[in-house]
Amino acid sequence: MRTFDTIITGGTVVTAADRITCDVGIKDGRIVALGTGFTDADEIIDATGKLVLPGGIDAHVHIAQPSGEGIVMADDFESGTRSAALGGTTTVMPFCLQEKGQSLRAALTAYHAKAAGECHVDVSFHLIISDPTDQVLGQELPALVEDGYTSFKIFMTYEGLALNDREILDVMSVARETGALVMVHAENYDAIRFMTEQLEKAGRTAPRFHATSRPIAVEREATHRAISLAELVDVPVMIVHVSNREAMEQIRWAQQKGLTVLGETCTQYLVLTENDLDGLGMEGAKYVCSPPPRDVASQEACWEGLRTGVFTVFSSDHCPFRYDDEQGKLTPKGRSSFRWVPNGIPGVAARLPILFSEGVMKGRIDLERFVAVTATNPAKTYGLYPRKGTIAIGSDADVTIWDPTCTKTLTYTLLGDGADYTPYEGMEITGWPVLTMVRGRTVVRDGWVVGAKGHGEHLARAKSPFAKAPGPVSFA
Ligand code: URP
Ligand code: ZN
Ligand code: ZN
Repeated sequence: MRTFDTIITGGTVVTAADRITCDVGIKDGRIVALGTGFTDADEIIDATGKLVLPGGIDAHVHIAQPSGEGIVMADDFESGTRSAALGGTTTVMPFCLQEKGQSLRAALTAYHAKAAGECHVDVSFHLIISDPTDQVLGQELPALVEDGYTSFKIFMTYEGLALNDREILDVMSVARETGALVMVHAENYDAIRFMTEQLEKAGRTAPRFHATSRPIAVEREATHRAISLAELVDVPVMIVHVSNREAMEQIRWAQQKGLTVLGETCTQYLVLTENDLDGLGMEGAKYVCSPPPRDVASQEACWEGLRTGVFTVFSSDHCPFRYDDEQGKLTPKGRSSFRWVPNGIPGVAARLPILFSEGVMKGRIDLERFVAVTATNPAKTYGLYPRKGTIAIGSDADVTIWDPTCTKTLTYTLLGDGADYTPYEGMEITGWPVLTMVRGRTVVRDGWVVGAKGHGEHLARAKSPFAKAPGPVSFA
């Protein structure tokens, strides 16, 4: 029997801390050796001239999520995880949405059934709490945290999802008591409804008014409120998909005050602006997501937050709908008002190439920071480290080999998801993931999916190291 199943030779191995030229030895799906001169393996992958990085972890994706009457998300677990693999991502963290009246266990059973046998990369669910009943908060949620569902998202906006401040405090209290991490979608629901009604009365119903209806103040206010509520119950909080400087500065302010407040930004806030919603007819619907893309100054702020550590995590918020489809962006109701256009854009495959090209290749962040925000920090934040998120002895052999010289023009057919467009169409990219390996098995090589679906597994997670030791909420 050979020493290794696979060796990756001659590449530059990069972690969140170091870069070093060495071979990687893999056995039974794990990294078992780092060194030089490895030869004894069933398979030898020559990575000379290439970068050997931990596989990406996309901690914020939506796959096969119910999205309102007549609307169907463009990805199931096969296509969503295929697209992830094509873009160099080896673990995705989709949301399991609790529908009103539904038990969390029932929601999870349904999502696991959809994912079973379909995934190309590993998967780990966050929960979305939309109905925080006594039963959910008192019984189900604590039990599920112990079962490895250690993070949950709450919404301050969206019909049917928004929690009021009292409900938010109740959910945060359970996180405090159990050691879980709360993720918050921070936009002020009442303010958005008010703005939307005003715009509709004025006949401003085209997709571009989606951005007008959710200005920066709406996000800044909710971000500050979420932080304040978390401070009251002494619980860490992750503010997801931050789009601009003012919201980012609320997080920085809290961090400087000593609160455990984490932040996430996403691809769209680095490279899109609200002008993208301005297209002819319904074209702008392709860019409708919440919070909306802002302006160039906001992009700069998001880069600053990534560079300086205000943002811990960089995600895609992949939430794909087909454009030319009445069950997608061109839902008939969407023509009457932007309020009915499904919120969300595809991006799980474009996330890493865009950050690599716009960030690393243009000198905005270094390679180590790239690895930190795309793999190591998501793994640490959500309780997957050190199994995932780094290249170290004992870690899963989740590896992406990058060719830093490879150039591509982004187009949706490269990306393999279920949508019929990409909001990043035409972007010139330098640097591309040429091989994606999940637990020692190559799943993508040179832009082709080579592994069969079903290799991806669900991961139960430890509690976040950012979370407090479980304990009662106390005002004594
Ligand atoms: O527009 C977005 N972001 N859709 C996805 C759902 C969410 O709020 O993350
Ligand atoms: Zn959200
Ligand atoms: Zn999202």
